[in-house]
Amino acid sequence: MIASSKSKTESEKDENILSPLQKDASLDSQLRPKTLSEYIGQEKIKENLNVLIRAAKGRGENIEHVLFYGPPGLGKTTLAYIMANEMGVNIKITSGPAIERVGDLASILTNLAENDILFIDEIHRLNKNIEEVLYPAMEEFALDLILGKGPGARSMRISLPHFTIIGATTRAGLISSPLRDRFGMIQRLDFYEQDEIEKILRRSANILGLEFESAAIIELAKRSRFTPRIANRLLKRVRDFAEVHGSGKLTSETAAQAFELLQIDSVGLDKNDIRIIETIIDKFAGGPVGLKTLALSTSEEEDTIEDVYEPYLLRLGFINRTPKGREATDAAYRHTGKKNAKNPLL
Ligand SMILES: Nc1ncnc2c1ncn2[C@@H]1O[C@H](COP(=O)(O)OP(=O)(O)O)[C@@H](O)[C@H]1O
Ligand SMILES: [Mg+2]
Repeated sequence: MIASSKSKTESEKDENILSPLQKDASLDSQLRPKTLSEYIGQEKIKENLNVLIRAAKGRGENIEHVLFYGPPGLGKTTLAYIMANEMGVNIKITSGPAIERVGDLASILTNLAENDILFIDEIHRLNKNIEEVLYPAMEEFALDLILGKGPGARSMRISLPHFTIIGATTRAGLISSPLRDRFGMIQRLDFYEQDEIEKILRRSANILGLEFESAAIIELAKRSRFTPRIANRLLKRVRDFAEVHGSGKLTSETAAQAFELLQIDSVGLDKNDIRIIETIIDKFAGGPVGLKTLALSTSEEEDTIEDVYEPYLLRLGFINRTPKGREATDAAYRHTGKKNAKNPLL
């Protein structure tokens, strides 16, 4: 089944402005770069993809299957669209959980044209039996179907056009190794640098026709969790605030007022992040605490902690992952103003 990009979490009610999982379809499509040269940062990945695309174009063939992994909101889906655009081919979008039956996959695959791209988001959530149908499809462009049941069942092989699968996942570790092995290229997206987020914000502000002070862009970038999707969302919020409470121009003053209202601190943490750090510090004496226990004591899903909170807290150096569990670092104590009994000098 081809899913639309609308996600359940889009309702205003449970909106979490800093969640990179929360998608904003209209903003995303308005601000999404269309070519590799418009795509900011991830230089190594762009170089690799450029070679892949040019080689495939030169030979008039489909691109190899590519797997992107990394935290949400960093630009995996964007890269898939860019590749289709640069190749001049069609892209169909689906996701692991949307493909429920072998028949769903068969109908998607048989409807592709030569060199088309099939983007499978959350590919780690494909069912095992669907994965098995995908192996020969990826390797030999063949679909093996079993017709009928019991002793009378027979198998039939259908040949498929030469297509490309682009898979995306937040964690490569969740993909089975036979599936992973069938990708010709695997690319990991990492958090952006502060200056790259500033560039992304400037580009977005220009597209939205906003006037801005450089200082405001810097302040926004500091709170964007090194994540383009969050940068764009914060930009939109600060713009709304500037229109209502100011002249419409983004100044560092209106930005600061907006952050105050949104309860986002100087490094882009909100009360949910702080709750996680403080739980480790207060309830577990700074850790180590296992993921399960931490999830239970914060009423968060284990997956959300691993996909959303933890990567950024690790990147900030506020927590460490040890074999025994998660630990709060000295920097986390300093940021929250908590006393560390184990390290009284701080
Ligand atoms: N490198 C980039 N340069 C500019 N904007 C980007 C970049 N990467 C992502 N974005 C913006 O962030 C949004 C989220 O990116 P997306 O590809 O949906 O992330 P993912 O699929 O990894 O969750 C996009 O709509 C786009 O506007
Ligand atoms: Mg995506």
